[in-house]
Amino acid sequence: MHQAWRDSQAWTKFGTPLSTTSNEACKLFDATLTQYIGWYDDPSMQGMGTCCDGMLKADPHFVMGHVLKNGLNVLGTGRTTRLDSDLSRDIQDMEDLALRQKLTSREQKHVEAVKLWAEGEMAKACDIWESILLYNPLDILALKFAHDSYFFLGFSTQMRDSIGRILPHWKPDMPLYGYLLGMHSFGLEETNLYPEAEKTARKGLEINPNDAWSTHTVAHVMEMTGRQDEGIQFMSGTEKDWAKCGLLACHNYWHWCLYNIEKGNHEEALGIVDSQILPRAKNSGAMLDNVDACSVLYRLKMEGVNVKDRWQDLYEICRSHTDDHILVFNDIHILMSLLGVEDKTVTHKMMDSIREFIRAGKGDNRDITASVGLTLCEALIAYDDEDYAKATELMYPIRYKVVTIGGSHAQRDLCNQFLIHAALKSTKHEHHKLARHLLMERKALKPCSPLTDRLIERAMAIHIE
Ligand SMILES: [Fe+2]
Repeated sequence: MHQAWRDSQAWTKFGTPLSTTSNEACKLFDATLTQYIGWYDDPSMQGMGTCCDGMLKADPHFVMGHVLKNGLNVLGTGRTTRLDSDLSRDIQDMEDLALRQKLTSREQKHVEAVKLWAEGEMAKACDIWESILLYNPLDILALKFAHDSYFFLGFSTQMRDSIGRILPHWKPDMPLYGYLLGMHSFGLEETNLYPEAEKTARKGLEINPNDAWSTHTVAHVMEMTGRQDEGIQFMSGTEKDWAKCGLLACHNYWHWCLYNIEKGNHEEALGIVDSQILPRAKNSGAMLDNVDACSVLYRLKMEGVNVKDRWQDLYEICRSHTDDHILVFNDIHILMSLLGVEDKTVTHKMMDSIREFIRAGKGDNRDITASVGLTLCEALIAYDDEDYAKATELMYPIRYKVVTIGGSHAQRDLCNQFLIHAALKSTKHEHHKLARHLLMERKALKPCSPLTDRLIERAMAIHIE
């Protein structure tokens, strides 16, 4: 995975010069960026965090170094200036440094974008990264920050087009080129262009079999097109290539689990949960890993599987994030863990915190929480209280707005399944009718789905006049 890191001259030659006199800082910028783009910690470089620290040690005044560090902090760990005074200070220091130096306009824009993201203005930050790309299509940091943000916002079309329009400026021998194919393929997949997505992802994997994001696209294509057996074969056959990409591996195992849940192989799914997903979520503490773990346990619970005390460790991690409100997507999964351990006190506190965030907060996620997030959480609580009619009535009107909470189609499918389960369990006749309609809709979209077939069997067993 290691490559020859670019020094100051190399960055200038590439067309994205860095304002620092330290070659060491430039090289460690490259090393940190490369690991971020590739979703891995390079052991020969002691990982991404060590590279990032070393970069700022080499030049504490390196503005793009601060941009990278703060950007990774806000996008990667979901920190926000609303709650985190250390981060506020870091962002302020970055701005002060930028004011005192003669920077390129590209670098100044990076500073502004990261500041906006830290304040919860994700879409506005994306506009700035796109304005950078208009003149600097080789700026892969702007590209990746925008790509990740579009994902958080559920902006699938932007995720696809953002890459598509800059690709002609790149040449295959440029550093990190292969990863662009992984990013593009995922945008293609999320806009339902499955054959194009698979072709592009497989091209990315030809260039670099360790590109876990291209692997991830193939996993999604298999998921969305009902190719569960092929999916299991693909994930097990390539495991050695992507499992070392620690920042994404847990999520790829989550995809592997989904095929097993689809097929009704609950023991196999639990095996992956216990051997990979839970230990990884516990060790990393990363929100992506935690939401995956919560998501898979909740899906198994809906399938009627007793997941026993598996919620406990997740609850311990999630309970410290109940006031964050970085993304609705995170909030609903955090709530699942609270419901999983039946902690009504913390559940109530979290709901109060969400209402307060809607009242006094700002930014994209505040608006999404107000329009859909709060209702989603209320629906989860109603389901947990066994008030399935209420859960159905809460979820049904917002189902086409769920896309705004971000994540992928496969991740948000939990909400589709939830509505069907709630409607099936409801005491109301019209909800049973609704469940059948939702299932027909689901079958039409993805004909090969044993999970759908099992639910259809259940729906048909309910007597409807
Ligand atoms: Fe995924």
